Amino acid sequence: MKSINIGICGLGTIGAGTFNLIDQNSTIITQRTGREIRVIQVSDLIDNPACDLSSVDLSRDIFEVARNPQVDILVELIGGTTTALKLILSAIENNKHVVTANKALIAQHGREIFAAAEQKGVMVAYEASIGGGIPIVKALREGLAANRVQWIAGIINGTSNYILTEMEEKQRDFADVLSEAQQLGYAEADPTFDIEGIDAAHKLTILSSIAFGHPLQFDQAYTEGIAEITQTDIRFASELGYRIKHLGITRRLEEGVELRVHPALIAKKDLLANISGVMNAVMVNSDAAGSTMYYGAGAGAVPTASAVVADIIDMTRSLDLPSAERIPYMSFQPEHIQEEKILPVSEIHSAYYLRMDVLDKPGEMANISRILSEDQISIEALIQKEAHTSGQEAPVPIVIITDRVKESLMDHAIAAIEEIPDLRGRVTRIRVESLAGE
Ligand code: HSE
Repeated sequence: MKSINIGICGLGTIGAGTFNLIDQNSTIITQRTGREIRVIQVSDLIDNPACDLSSVDLSRDIFEVARNPQVDILVELIGGTTTALKLILSAIENNKHVVTANKALIAQHGREIFAAAEQKGVMVAYEASIGGGIPIVKALREGLAANRVQWIAGIINGTSNYILTEMEEKQRDFADVLSEAQQLGYAEADPTFDIEGIDAAHKLTILSSIAFGHPLQFDQAYTEGIAEITQTDIRFASELGYRIKHLGITRRLEEGVELRVHPALIAKKDLLANISGVMNAVMVNSDAAGSTMYYGAGAGAVPTASAVVADIIDMTRSLDLPSAERIPYMSFQPEHIQEEKILPVSEIHSAYYLRMDVLDKPGEMANISRILSEDQISIEALIQKEAHTSGQEAPVPIVIITDRVKESLMDHAIAAIEEIPDLRGRVTRIRVESLAGE
């Protein structure tokens, strides 16, 4: 049978990992596909010494790969959303199937890409865009295809999880751990994408659409990163039986879909609280299967290459199928993808961790409790520490865990607490999520 010819655009960390994995596991891959998969062309502006390119055509022009009549599948690993979009559209125009690891591109331009691909009858696959080596797209599109998904919650940014883990376990400094994550190849080219939650929001946007069948709506995702998390909050959370994790949560409710990425306290006994380092995990709660969880390396050359090559293998197996018989790009048939309201974060319900510094004077705690009760917010747990210096002018930290409440009410209560004259600084607020695998 004719071999399947691959062109790889971008020979960075994942590109080199993909090139080498296809070579290293070629025998077993052929045993599984029944056809040889050959990389015939690669393209990048600079060589990568991790790859032996002696037997492939090397081009400095990525668009040459998109036009190459010998290439069956173009693998886009250049990143970014401008040239990458042009490259993919050019490949589709030239009747090539496309595999990409580019979550930003799919989250922001997926609609245009899938529409173009559908018109041309070619496949576009993006397993590597979420959770590195974890086959979560496959699980949602195929393994759970009989289910109505209720919610998904995941640790989907390895860099943030690595930083939070090191901060908690080794009391390391944020900047120091971030620089290590960059050296290890976990962080995005622009690491603010990781620490501000943008990378996780790209991934969650895609997960939500595949799970619920609504169009990709990255611009509606609520995004908050880990840059404000301090050792103080990590310690207080621990004292209360929680760990701080950066989560992506999407949930279908009658009034709309929650699509939010932010740090959250989760009970130490919860499965997601025990995902450490660069590892990712996605928990899916659905009506028939119940809660299922998918765990693995969320970043790094070889795990991500595993997902890229899995897509190439899937495509190779489906090449001879008519388009209508292939798995739909976004899990639902295009005519069944329906607009859904994405709820603004002010409409979500959550429990909250609040930390504030107040002068050590009689009546301050009563003031705070009164404000919370006026907004119908009940207190679940409370820590008040004695002042480190004597005298009533010394501020003391107060930490409160509240019951679940609508976020707009919590916004109102925090604004009122921040008006208390004896409050020093602002109120720190972190959501508290209950994600037991029920
Ligand atoms: N920068 C990403 C992360 C890489 O840290 O998870 C994988 O998408």
